[in-house]
Amino acid sequence: MSSSNIIQPNTDPWTLAKELSGKHLIDGEMVAAASGKTFEIRFPATLETVGEAAYGEAADVDKAVAAAKSAQTDWAKKSARERGKLVAECGRVLQNHADELGRLIALETGKALRTESRVEASVLADAFVFYGGLGSELKGETVPFNPQMLTVTLREPIGVVGAIVPWNVPMMLMAYKIAPALVAGNAVVVKSAEEAPFGVLRVCQIMNQVLPEGCFNMLSGFGPECGQPLVEHPDVGKVTFTGSVETGKLIYKTAAEKLIPVTLELGGKSPMIVMDDADLDRAVDGAVIGMRFTRQGQSCTASSRIFVHEKLHDTFVEKLEAKVEAMKMGDPLDEETDIGTIVSQQQKERVESYIEMGRKESGAKAIEMGELPSDEKLSKGYFVRPVIFTGMGIDARPAREEIFGPVACVFKFSDYEEVLAAANDSEYGLAATIWTTNLKTALDATHRLEAGFVQVNQNLVVQPALSYGGIKKSGIGKEASLEAMLANFTHKKTIIMNMA
Ligand code: NAI
Ligand code: MG
Repeated sequence: MSSSNIIQPNTDPWTLAKELSGKHLIDGEMVAAASGKTFEIRFPATLETVGEAAYGEAADVDKAVAAAKSAQTDWAKKSARERGKLVAECGRVLQNHADELGRLIALETGKALRTESRVEASVLADAFVFYGGLGSELKGETVPFNPQMLTVTLREPIGVVGAIVPWNVPMMLMAYKIAPALVAGNAVVVKSAEEAPFGVLRVCQIMNQVLPEGCFNMLSGFGPECGQPLVEHPDVGKVTFTGSVETGKLIYKTAAEKLIPVTLELGGKSPMIVMDDADLDRAVDGAVIGMRFTRQGQSCTASSRIFVHEKLHDTFVEKLEAKVEAMKMGDPLDEETDIGTIVSQQQKERVESYIEMGRKESGAKAIEMGELPSDEKLSKGYFVRPVIFTGMGIDARPAREEIFGPVACVFKFSDYEEVLAAANDSEYGLAATIWTTNLKTALDATHRLEAGFVQVNQNLVVQPALSYGGIKKSGIGKEASLEAMLANFTHKKTIIMNMA
């Protein structure tokens, strides 16, 4: 890579989105869709046109998968450490683009730049650096067998991986899929979400300076026209997906026809339990973070069912209300803004329908917080005021279903066994937290909470090196760790050599 070829950061997301318009990345080239078609992307805060994304269909999938298949052979011949070094180098180059990528993602998703979008861009780079260091961990085993024989296992790549990503944290979720897939020696075809194609495409364009042509490819397009043919393609040997339960099931069924493995990271309705001995202020801060109010609650890990001991309940609600009330909703690109928009009209309507449903529940009280932006320019934007429901019946739909918006249900409890049963009474099992200063309660709850990710007295997001993923309808498989790379992107070959 000569320095003159290095792409310079462009911190004007409007011109950048125009530059990226109408393009997929296939075989190292930015190319138009086979049909020449595009679809419009708008800034969710003003509905101004941001750009036109390439409209991917089966013909584009065929091209991208063919490119990946042919590039994979040479990519897999490189030593694992060499592949890792290149992937880590992508992370370092991406870090120089953190501000640029933050602005671009704020523009297409409406997530606030300071609190969300720029943060995603830095975490993204870190995921590449983390996985880049794990090349030499693709180890096999020798097993004592028979003195004349040597048995070894090898970790071999699967081949071509299809990665389908959603729009809420598109670049980061892509990174946790493609970085390990590449280090393990696979080639990848990524399909971005129809709401957020440009951030993902820009990341791929930046990576393209470092990695060999064709070993990763990126398509934009809609689920049925572009995602489905990718999953169905006979040369795709693995699909890794993050998104809704409904789409996850469809992908699982299609993959079953081909008998290929899938990783599914799906929804959640994660409980947060605040015991009477909890540090109240920390728990309130934890609820603000856990609910991802700065991201309009658009998180699969959102702590959207908050159980607070009756002794603390009223004060907790007051303090939580005051914290969220103080947050500024506004232009996602403004550094002052804490909370941006919902991603799309469709998601906004979905969130509002749950809020309406909640208002009609008997006994439920809706506390609406913050103020809609007053700027005329933002009047059509997809802004929604965050809501806390109290007194909601535990079986009401807004209390059981994933809303994927800034809506938290706070329940009052008095008995530990009862609250544990209520927390576990969900079809989901992604994350759970408990807030207590009692070590015994903490230990007991961590064992008994039914979730893939349980935390005590904190509410961290996905962390590199720690396995992340749910049980029950929250999905299949883990991401973000070494274990995830080995399980998702390699198969174990057993070799026996007979030296008799
Ligand atoms: P979705 O699951 O339909 O979309 C996610 C990705 O899957 C997108 O790239 C989409 O194009 C693709 N897709 C859709 N249909 C497909 C198909 N038949 N074959 C292959 N790929 C397909 O989710 P959507 O519609 O954006 O959001 C609906 C709900 O899903 C949200 O309200 C939220 O509850 C949940 N969701 C959960 C996410 C998570 O992080 N676990 C992320 C996004 C949405
Ligand atoms: Mg959908």
